[in-house]
Amino acid sequence: MISPVTVISPVIVAIDGPAAAGKGTLARRLAEALGLSYLDTGLLYRATGRRVLDQGGNVADPVAATSAASTLTPEDLQRSDLRGPQADAAAAAVAAIPSVRAALLDFQRSFGRATGAVLDGRDIGTVIFPEARLKIFVTASLAERARRRFLELQAKGTPAALDQVEADMRARDAHDAARAAAPLKPADDAVILDTTALDADAAFVQALALAQARLAVPH
Ligand code: DC
Repeated sequence: MISPVTVISPVIVAIDGPAAAGKGTLARRLAEALGLSYLDTGLLYRATGRRVLDQGGNVADPVAATSAASTLTPEDLQRSDLRGPQADAAAAAVAAIPSVRAALLDFQRSFGRATGAVLDGRDIGTVIFPEARLKIFVTASLAERARRRFLELQAKGTPAALDQVEADMRARDAHDAARAAAPLKPADDAVILDTTALDADAAFVQALALAQARLAVPH
């Protein structure tokens, strides 16, 4: 006789939202508090864009970008040149290509399924892990997100003008939301966390309370 087996699927927490809404900091802290691994999926698109640029290719070319995505190595995610306006634009371009997204899908799913994880990105709750136990869509006003990004750039000594940062962010939001492949939108069952008036600690307290309530209940 076969004895009953309880299959407990790994816990997945999906954190999605636009740039500079605070999802990276929140996801990292949540992963640490819950004892889960953490993956910043934006790095996959950033590293893909970088590899295409390294090869002198066009980031909008599906063949070059898909080949770069399929051959990413863990070291590519550690590069120091994955941030900044050029890397932002390259990542947004490759992220709009369906075959690039398909090439990066297995990596993300395998990462999460190995031990459970908190993943942050744009389509974690809608495409990568629609069955995630908890989905939080982290957002904030455009002006507040631009202000945060501007302060980050200033802290790094990168020259920037607030108006330009806001204009770039508006353009990238529009691009991420309008693309046909996995556009940025909250999953129907996501909890919306607006951090416009919340600092990182206050956002973390709210997210942790959600996680404790949601993850305590057997799925
Ligand atoms: O989160 P980020 O700014 O590092 O993301 C870089 C780019 O990659 C951005 O244009 C959105 C895109 N992206 C995506 O399409 N899907 C993800 N899961 C993560 C990022």
